[in-house]
Amino acid sequence: MKIGIYPGSFDPITLGHLDIIVRASGLVDHLIIGVLKNSKKHPLLTSKERVELIQKVVANTTGLKSTIEVVDFDGLLIDFAKQKKANIIVRGLRAITDFEYELQIAQTNHKLNPAVDTIFFTTSVEYSYVSSTAVKEIASFGGDISEFVPKEVVTSVYDKFKEIRSI
Ligand code: PNS
Repeated sequence: MKIGIYPGSFDPITLGHLDIIVRASGLVDHLIIGVLKNSKKHPLLTSKERVELIQKVVANTTGLKSTIEVVDFDGLLIDFAKQKKANIIVRGLRAITDFEYELQIAQTNHKLNPAVDTIFFTTSVEYSYVSSTAVKEIASFGGDISEFVPKEVVTSVYDKFKEIRSI
């Protein structure tokens, strides 16, 4: 049984992420979407909110070819992979700017556990410019994010900014 992990901050999940989830589901029997809990990036959404949003999105997505599990994790990705008996890590590459960072992480993870390989999906052209960071920036100024994130995510992001502003 091929078990893959697609790790990330997913703050929030974008249409680019979803595209990779659908495509990666055709490669493995079981795909674990691993949501990093305590990212150094100071996430907008809590890991619980990010997990719940992804679960909702996945439940409404057609064309998935494997079973999908969404969980948060802390610590080293390679330890999480071992714990989940996964031997494939899935990552997306948008542009050459992603490559250097991704190569370093993939090589480090492979050194830490040679039984685990990282597989890269090149992001579909229509999503190559989409990032969670841009989505948050647009939403923070009240801009329209509906072209960049799954429909289930739109309101949650705006609500989160409202919540932050009311504190
Ligand atoms: O979506 P992101 O923020 O680019 O995802 C980055 C992620 C979660 C894949 C990466 O930060 C990660 O794996 N963090 C866990 C700690 C770890 O294992 N680091 C790699 C060894 S240098």
